[in-house]
Amino acid sequence: MIKRIFLIVLDSFGVGAAPDAAAFGDEGSDTLGAVRNHPEFDCPNLARLGLFHIDGVCGGQGQAAGAYARMREASKGKDTTIGHWEIAGLVSDDPLPTYPDGFPDDLIAEFERLTGHPVLCNKPYSGTEVIRDYGPEACRTGALIVYTSADSVFQIAAHEDVVPVDELYRCCEIARKLLVGKHGVGRVIARPFEGEWPYVRTARRHDFSLVPPADTMLDRLSAAGLDVVTVGKIYDIFAGKGIPVSECRRTENNDHGMELTAGLVDRDFRGLCFINLVDFDSAYGHRNDAAGYARALTAFDRWLGSFLPRLGEDDVLMITADHGCDPSTPSTDHSREYTPLLVFGKQIKPGYDLGTRSSFADISATVLDALGVAQGTTAGKSFWRDIRVQDVGPVYTLSGKLLKRVEKALVQAAADAREKAYTPYSHFKVGAALLTKSGKIYTGCNIENASYTPTVCAERTAVFKAVSEGDTDFAAIAVVGGPEGPAADFCAPCGVCRQVLAEFCPAHFPVLLGKPGAYSVHPLSDLLPFAFTPKDLL
Ligand code: THU
Repeated sequence: MIKRIFLIVLDSFGVGAAPDAAAFGDEGSDTLGAVRNHPEFDCPNLARLGLFHIDGVCGGQGQAAGAYARMREASKGKDTTIGHWEIAGLVSDDPLPTYPDGFPDDLIAEFERLTGHPVLCNKPYSGTEVIRDYGPEACRTGALIVYTSADSVFQIAAHEDVVPVDELYRCCEIARKLLVGKHGVGRVIARPFEGEWPYVRTARRHDFSLVPPADTMLDRLSAAGLDVVTVGKIYDIFAGKGIPVSECRRTENNDHGMELTAGLVDRDFRGLCFINLVDFDSAYGHRNDAAGYARALTAFDRWLGSFLPRLGEDDVLMITADHGCDPSTPSTDHSREYTPLLVFGKQIKPGYDLGTRSSFADISATVLDALGVAQGTTAGKSFWRDIRVQDVGPVYTLSGKLLKRVEKALVQAAADAREKAYTPYSHFKVGAALLTKSGKIYTGCNIENASYTPTVCAERTAVFKAVSEGDTDFAAIAVVGGPEGPAADFCAPCGVCRQVLAEFCPAHFPVLLGKPGAYSVHPLSDLLPFAFTPKDLL
């Protein structure tokens, strides 16, 4: 069982235009493509984990150390909030609203009425220019400067001496309550400034985020009593929903985020550590600074080199992104791209290609599955069973009997393998799980064929997989099968499979038949008395 998952979001690190990029004005965008050939890009650790093995990304060499996938965003958006929500299992049908022409008059009028302050500006503006251009009038009249950007934000600037910060925050809360439903902007942001013209912004900026409209994996984990630890802007992106306040660690920049994450490896927690590294997006992607982006990735890769060896036996690392922000295109805005997913850990199959996944939400489903928490209403399809190395640890009790825990894991593995059975002709699905004495599990399913006779049973698939990997020292096998459907009852191994088992396994070899929660154990000699074995040829 997995104890801790470190999920790192490299903000805006896309790996190529999504199929629907044109609808977002982002045809041909490719953030990784724009930085990977830069002289300052040097990321051997990301390469080792499988970054260049990902579907559609070229250049992967040898076997990757991690499992890898290309992730497609199912939500209709390309912003940070929607991307993170989807990673956490919440797919959004509508993008967060943006206001290139300013906010509607009736909304501003209501905001003025409720706050008691007149409003200036109300259009997209640069944060430093807006206080220079509107600051003097705001200071004279006590008005609030409301402005927006290409992002889904409602920003309110005011001079701290004219509108005290607490009053500004109160106005932000009023805006937050107004801006719901179709006007549910991602963030309302307080932007206090001080001093004489042209003024300076103060550190008392505060974000009031939209609360996710449904539960995410964070709610599921917290409800299950697991830890949810956050680094960077994760807490704000989820408006704290599903995250204990004590686990909110805001950061100054990437270096700070990496330092805090490195510190958390030493902490004994059980659950998820969810990290956002924002510089890729805010400092480089939006500024079309490909060199800076390449340097930031190189710095992350160096850090990764020291972080990976510190992961424990029961830890998993996942690296992904929330959208793209190609620094080489004229646009300084986000881009609708695929994102990468790299999964690494002692219990993860190296070099496992997960292909292209249809939603970021598969990450959420997998996190919950790996930590043993039910998905509830969250979206996504878990790929946990595909990527985990099935290793149950010690197999025997001191007196040489199979451990009960191991028996149960073996029968469950056979039931899981049964789901992969290829049975268009018989619709009789069988799964087998073969255990080696060192604790490794090889699974198999039955694979049928249009010409019928080449069909191979589940047991033989498992045995042949193991033998072809050089493993022949077996401890037990479990078989779960029956007609299609979940109510698999019992499948007696066929004569050919019994014969193949007798080739490698002794008379007392345990064969577990049944299903999870209801199985029986039989020595192989009960299934095949007087077996003809290699000994007979001596
Ligand atoms: N089958 C197995 O996979 N294992 C057995 O030991 C018995 C039979 C499969 C083969 C075929 O695909 C289907 O069950 C019906 O015979």
